[in-house]
Amino acid sequence: MLFKFKRGWEIRESDVTSESVYVNRRSFIRKAALGSLAVSGGLLAGCDEGENKASAAKTENTSQPSPSAGLYPAQRNERFQLDRELTSEELATTYNNFYEFGSSKNIWRKAQDLQIRPWNIVIDGLVDAPQELDFDDLLKKVTLEERLYRHRCVEAWSMAVPWTGFPMRDLVALAQPQSGAKYIRMETFNLPDVASGQKAFWYPWPYVEGLTIEEATNELAFIATGIYGREMPKQNGAPLRLVTPWKYGFKSIKSIVKFTFTDQRPISFWEEIQGSEYGFWANVNPEVSHPRWSQATEQPLGQTGRIPTQLYNGYGEYVADLYSNIKGERLFV
Ligand code: MTE
Repeated sequence: MLFKFKRGWEIRESDVTSESVYVNRRSFIRKAALGSLAVSGGLLAGCDEGENKASAAKTENTSQPSPSAGLYPAQRNERFQLDRELTSEELATTYNNFYEFGSSKNIWRKAQDLQIRPWNIVIDGLVDAPQELDFDDLLKKVTLEERLYRHRCVEAWSMAVPWTGFPMRDLVALAQPQSGAKYIRMETFNLPDVASGQKAFWYPWPYVEGLTIEEATNELAFIATGIYGREMPKQNGAPLRLVTPWKYGFKSIKSIVKFTFTDQRPISFWEEIQGSEYGFWANVNPEVSHPRWSQATEQPLGQTGRIPTQLYNGYGEYVADLYSNIKGERLFV
């Protein structure tokens, strides 16, 4: 595929072409570029066990002074127990997926450039009163707790981490959605000057994810603001991110700036890039392979040897009912 890149002084394509043709052409070029990325490794990839060992960097506390630091550690909610050892904090904070800062796992240093104060969160769409909230003010309206959850990446690596945060249903209650709201669309920041990965035009920035209202109000859905008893490190999605442990990890959108209540099913970042590999539902199922690798087993970070993956990542008792009446959908992609 040969692309012609215009020089700065040349007339912009959008000046001579109608907006819709322009947007479609951009999307075509982006898709063509992504097609070659799938081969070269720029798309989410199967787990490379060797890469775990390379993640020996130390974490660094470069956070700005935070008015909410005193909220950590929060009390643990004992309802959520693990069947395995916690992943080491060092691994969980140095082996990351955060494409805004690049497509390698080793982005934690670059992520320190993100300024997380002040941090505004927009709640809009089908809600009684759209609002814009400061993150630290939001924390005053909720009660933080710690939960131990398993996390299963679609790439077939996994971890077990103590998240601090609050149930997503508390945010839904704060938003007061109207009865027509069926989905919540979430969006990450879009700051290419800070997050150089966002200069890659072939990705459809900003990162977008979505849940149904039923999923968002399920007791497992969690808005995490901390990890390992302290505030969220930037590389893990500071200051607030989603955690949906029964779904593949790409659903757990980081550094959220907007929650939009809508009657339209959102098209997520990865779904737009490669819908055949990354769908809207993305529930964990060892029996449904990813088109490019098996999902039957997973590699826990920091351990030798793979372990079997469980249906809904082991959380079926909480979430299986959500899907019992849904027919004709690809629930596990
Ligand atoms: N959110 C944003 N905004 N950008 C991303 O690249 N990666 C997703 C998810 N959330 C991602 C994101 C993927 S693929 C995974 S597995 C998890 O974040 C990784 O979370 P962790 O780095 O805290 O382990």
